This record gives sequence, structure tokens and C-alpha cells, in this order.
Amino acid sequence: MPTFDHFDVAARFYENIPPAPLSAILSDLLAVFPGARILDAGGGTGRLAQVLAQSGARLTVTDFSHGMLRGAMRKGGLSPTRAAVERLPFPGASFDRVLMVDALHHVYHQGQTAREMFRVLRPGGRLVIEEPDIDTLTVKLLALGEKLLFMRSHFLSGERMAALFAGLPAALSLRREDHTVWLLVEKD
Ligand SMILES: C[S@@+](CC[C@H](N)C(=O)[O-])C[C@H]1O[C@@H](n2cnc3c(N)ncnc32)[C@H](O)[C@@H]1O
Repeated sequence: MPTFDHFDVAARFYENIPPAPLSAILSDLLAVFPGARILDAGGGTGRLAQVLAQSGARLTVTDFSHGMLRGAMRKGGLSPTRAAVERLPFPGASFDRVLMVDALHHVYHQGQTAREMFRVLRPGGRLVIEEPDIDTLTVKLLALGEKLLFMRSHFLSGERMAALFAGLPAALSLRREDHTVWLLVEKD
């Protein structure tokens, strides 16, 4: 993987970007409970993990950007782990919940990422992916902007995100609101 990463640069500014940390929909889909083992994959500076930890859950933030993870380390208590989400350093069925917010379009291999997140989720657990909805004009313009910045973004529609989990033992459902789409994967 390349040594330059946009997010190492963005990390310095990232936490100053006006946040919209935990939407009601994400909270509802995740259904976090005290003591839950939660993996925030591509969790960056841990801004969402920090909010989820307040409910008594045990958070692990994984990301491959040193810069972003430094933010997660500063927050404390989030078990920051440097790794590519395509190859997670955790045994199977390690987590009750796995979330990925605003990161799927940035990864190198979306299919491999989906399979890895599914592997580390325990049976009966929930995996939630939140992405900008590429079926909206605003996000199409955002995608164009990211292309102009030479970012390797590759946005998928909700249906194509769901297709990454085809054939796996799970129930899939999609929610959409404004410019965001959520995929809920409930593992059998
Ligand atoms: C837009 S940020 C979102 C961070 C966080 N989820 C949030 O909502 O605040 C995308 C994150 O995905 C991470 N990322 C991108 N590709 C990755 C990969 N293949 N493996 C691990 N992390 C990755 C980036 O380093 C970055 O921190």
C-alpha cells in the first residue's frame, strides 16, 4: 500500500470539521448494549467510538492512518489498532457489533473488507455500514470533488453495498435519509 495517505494529512483538521457524530438511525440500527464488544472499522480519530463508549460498550478502533489513529489514542479507552480493514487482526466472531462510517468508499478492496468485517462479527451480531448516498446529486458532486483531489474514492449504491454480502448467512436491510444510506447486516 502507498506511503502517502490523504488521511494522514486530513487528521490534523479532521476533528475540527463540524461533526454529526451519532445519528438516531445509526444508534437505532446498532442497538448498543452495556459491555458490547464493538469494532469501529476505519474509525479514524475515534469521534464516533468515543460517543458509543459512553453507553458502557467496549470499543476497538481500527484504521491504517497513523495520523487519524493518533486522535483515537488521545481520547483514551478506545483500543486503537493500526490495520487495513481488508485484513483485520482479530479472530473470527470477536465482536457483537461492527460499524463502518464514511469509510467503505475509501478502502482498496470493498468485497474483501465486507467479508473481513463479517468474519469478525459473532453470529447474532450486527454490522452497520453508513455511507454518503451516491444516488443523490449532492453526493455525486462530492464524489467528483474527491476525484479532483486524487482520492481513491469509489462510492457504491446501497444495493451494491448489499451485494457485497450476497451468499453470506445474514439478513440485509437498507435505510436512506437525506444524503445518507445505511446497510444493516444481521448475521445468522
Ligand atoms: C472519512 S474517514 C471516516 C473516519 C470515521 N469513520 C469517522 O466517521 O469519523 C475514513 C477513514 O477510513 C480510513 N481508511 C480508508 N481505507 C482504509 C483501509 N483500507 N483500512 C483501514 N482504514 C482505512 C482512513 O484512514 C480514514 O480514517
